[in-house]
Amino acid sequence: MDMMELLKTRRTYRRFEQKPVSKEILDDILEATRLSSSAANKQPLTYIVINEPAKVDEVFQYTTWAGQLPKELGWPKENEKPVLFIAVIENTDISPAYCDTDAGIALANMTMAAWAHGVGSCIIGACNKVKLSEMFGLKETQKLHSVVAFGYPTHKSTIVDQGEDGSLNYYVDEKVDYYVKKRKLSDTVTYY
Ligand SMILES: Cc1cc2nc3c(=O)[nH]c(=O)nc-3n(C[C@H](O)[C@H](O)[C@H](O)COP(=O)(O)O)c2cc1C
Repeated sequence: MDMMELLKTRRTYRRFEQKPVSKEILDDILEATRLSSSAANKQPLTYIVINEPAKVDEVFQYTTWAGQLPKELGWPKENEKPVLFIAVIENTDISPAYCDTDAGIALANMTMAAWAHGVGSCIIGACNKVKLSEMFGLKETQKLHSVVAFGYPTHKSTIVDQGEDGSLNYYVDEKVDYYVKKRKLSDTVTYY
């Protein structure tokens, strides 16, 4: 896949095959993440990999999916759940500055590297950070930024233009394939 095709198709996926992600692919995802740019090159982020099925289930119970859809459409069912999570941790003792920007870049690298192997992902900010931080045994100086769910997707997701009504809500069709609205280029760019 060329880069533009990768960027177009690397969407958020929320239903997955029950097939593990290999160690080789996981290592590639982590390596791509390690290489991310970082403010002042402080690299305050660390990562927790959750890939044992019982532990993936534990993390799953503290995650929230597809806020713009009814639960029966947006949440993965038992046989559609992710097979891997990676938690992104901000280590504020290394640097409290720009952690959120660093995390955004790391999330982009991570999800792109996964998608280059056909592994889909869903970045999850809406998770129970108190419970998950306890579970992971995070220290006072560590803050959970997000968890990312991974797996081989079983649905499609297509980009469409923002509609005339101005809504940016994503929606699904009768096959529960996703359509994700993006603002038009002409609405987001001006030339000075
Ligand atoms: C910082 C961040 C947090 C997100 N949190 C959630 C979440 O908690 N649950 C979820 O289902 N999707 C979550 N998403 C996925 C967004 O809903 C998704 O990116 C958006 O609908 C656009 O779809 P796309 O990624 O295919 O472009 C999150 C995305 C980002 C970037």
